[in-house]
Amino acid sequence: MTTSTNLRKRVLSGMRSTGKLHLGNYVGALANWVRMQDEYECFFEVADWHALTTDYADTSRVKENSLEVALDWLAAGLDPEKSVIFIQSHVPAHAELHLLFSMITPLGWLERVPTYKEQRENIKDKDLGTYGFLGYPVLQSADILIYKANVVPVGEDQVAHVELTREIARRFNSLYGQRGEVFPEPQSLLTPAPKLPGTDGRKMSKSYGNTILLTDPEPLVRQKLKTMVTDPARVRRSDPGNPDVCPVGDVHKIFSDRATLDKVDEGCRSAGIGCIECKSWAANALVQLLTPMQERRKQFEENPRLAWDILEAGSQRARAVAAKTIAEVRQAMGMSLDYEPPESVAQGTDAAK
Ligand code: TRP
Ligand code: SF4
Repeated sequence: MTTSTNLRKRVLSGMRSTGKLHLGNYVGALANWVRMQDEYECFFEVADWHALTTDYADTSRVKENSLEVALDWLAAGLDPEKSVIFIQSHVPAHAELHLLFSMITPLGWLERVPTYKEQRENIKDKDLGTYGFLGYPVLQSADILIYKANVVPVGEDQVAHVELTREIARRFNSLYGQRGEVFPEPQSLLTPAPKLPGTDGRKMSKSYGNTILLTDPEPLVRQKLKTMVTDPARVRRSDPGNPDVCPVGDVHKIFSDRATLDKVDEGCRSAGIGCIECKSWAANALVQLLTPMQERRKQFEENPRLAWDILEAGSQRARAVAAKTIAEVRQAMGMSLDYEPPESVAQGTDAAK
């Protein structure tokens, strides 16, 4: 990122640091981020504070998890020469903005956020009745607005958070923006994510235990494919199947080339191929995608300092941008650090002249 890139729109996105990433994370976000790097000025954040909102009880792996996520990002092709890659908690100004936003955010806005209600209902093994968990999207708003991001690439589930960010920006601007607006309203950019099933046919998700990790070695990828569920109508080898209702068919649609897709479609519907063969082709496509990533990852694994240095350098660049915004915010709220004598004192000085 050089100064000549200033005309490009700015992107910010992030992921909670919850350990190793899987193919669903890649298809649903990361692959898109990698593509965006050339068109936008990108900031990518490892959201370790956001991970704490649910996993606050045991912080022993916080740093390790952040590093894991960053390694997967670098392996997948996020490039520190193009993008600012950083750790949220290394930019403390996010916390200051979060605090100020918390003053102007009505409780009702937060209680209405769909992810809040869902998670409160679904996650029963942790007490999520905390102040921090309710404030999750306020922190996310601070993440986005502190960089004045124009575009936030996210999945469907995060759109409500970006909407809340817009409302907070609007409210801040109308309360304090006497000299013009401080924050632009960001747009969410929905990732055009094809559905990627996990090995059990449900959506690929860490909590279902049905994932294929970006770090899975070839034999494990092949093994996982072998056990993947298929079109239930294809009981025997001689039964025709339908790739459109088969999870393996979905994998092909995302990762295989045209020629393979045609072979699968024809062979499955005519019972000309067996599922074992079909799955080995799907595994081939995955191995082809993952091998170069794992190669790239290796250099960082051998020297983790390298990745940490990238994160530190990124965080430093992020801190510089964030500091500028915080200065404007303080100015707008009449809380700048400059010495300005109170009105009465200033008048007194005038009279004495
Ligand atoms: N909440 C996002 C998620 O769970 C992660 C995140 C944190 C984020 N801060 C962000 C996403 C800022 C976009 C912008 O996926
Ligand atoms: Fe699925 Fe392939 Fe078997 Fe058809 S041949 S049911 S697409 S695994």
